Amino acid sequence: MSNDKRFLVVGAGTMGGGYARMLAAGRVPGAALAGVVDVDGARALEVAGETGVPAFGDIAHAVADTEPDAAYVATPDALHRKPVQQLAEAGLAILVEKPLATTIEDGQAMVDAVRAAGVYAEVNYSNRWNPPFVEASRTVDNGELGEIRSFNVRLNNPIGSPRARLTWSSGTTPAWFLMSHCLDLALWLGGQRAVRVYASGGRGELAGHGIDTPDWIHATVKYANGGDGVFESLWILPDTWPGGAEFNFRAIGTRGALDVDTSYQNISVVTDRHRYPGTLNWAPQRLAAFVRSMDGLGRTRVTFEEGLEVTRILVAIHRSLESGNVEMV
Ligand SMILES: NC(=O)c1ccc[n+]([C@@H]2O[C@H](COP(=O)([O-])OP(=O)(O)OC[C@H]3O[C@@H](n4cnc5c(N)ncnc54)[C@H](O)[C@@H]3O)[C@@H](O)[C@H]2O)c1
Repeated sequence: MSNDKRFLVVGAGTMGGGYARMLAAGRVPGAALAGVVDVDGARALEVAGETGVPAFGDIAHAVADTEPDAAYVATPDALHRKPVQQLAEAGLAILVEKPLATTIEDGQAMVDAVRAAGVYAEVNYSNRWNPPFVEASRTVDNGELGEIRSFNVRLNNPIGSPRARLTWSSGTTPAWFLMSHCLDLALWLGGQRAVRVYASGGRGELAGHGIDTPDWIHATVKYANGGDGVFESLWILPDTWPGGAEFNFRAIGTRGALDVDTSYQNISVVTDRHRYPGTLNWAPQRLAAFVRSMDGLGRTRVTFEEGLEVTRILVAIHRSLESGNVEMV
């Protein structure tokens, strides 16, 4: 019998559907797909049909029927808590999508749930496996950068993402959805806790389309070592933006500097229009790392405590956005 870890995918949308197909296609060493769960029955059936596993409308039946080893949770940003609590009680290892939570209460409840159940759990801040950031991490670990003093990061999406792709963009913000990745990378590479934040943003374009969330959020973060980070996340790039997203990351240290522009991961194809198809998909490596870590063998991880730290910073950023004041983390 195979020793592959069998995964339940909870939430069969863009991410869950993608991970389910990747598992079913055998692209993650040591892992297999056990079943697919979605509250939207048609979605669960569609992904399950494509991948040849059973579909379920709820976690309890899925766990009882398929007896999986682990679960990948890809429900909307604000809806991670209940599935995580239920899966922890069922004794499964859990990989939950970022952001861990959109309130500190939800995040703490999830930290408590996995601790009480003693299950292996990580947050899917998947950019830690994105090749340019793997290289950035090596550079930091080698001491080539010294101590990082300044981060300048922007991660932005075309307006089609909140308007057409996501059905729940009113229930989150570009900071929860995008800036969370940037804050996690700064936490991972800089190794410093955030002390206080100031945020400013604006609304109008998305609100005009009935989507109640800011168009853009800019935040500055002061870190415990005195360093600063400037972060920008917005959801109003034109849909013609090449590559589908803009991701620039700069870190300046006491001994060196690094700059990542993820546009250059792509190949450009210019015919009667331009295309930049991605050449690198690191999702299988990320999931394979989780599988190795379930057996204590992984090197890079994203703990629930780190996930909660990013949630804490983002809660203060959203508080500052409302109050117009500097807010303590
Ligand atoms: N790591 C990354 O790079 C990355 C990229 C995009 C999105 N995400 C994260 O992944 C998560 C999902 O995003 P998405 O783009 O796939 O969203 P999506 O809307 O495409 O899919 C979400 C799915 O969850 C289902 N769902 C809602 N509540 C549920 C519940 N209680 N139980 C089971 N299913 C439920 C919905 O019906 C939907 O099919 C979000 O937290 C998002 O921030 C991560």
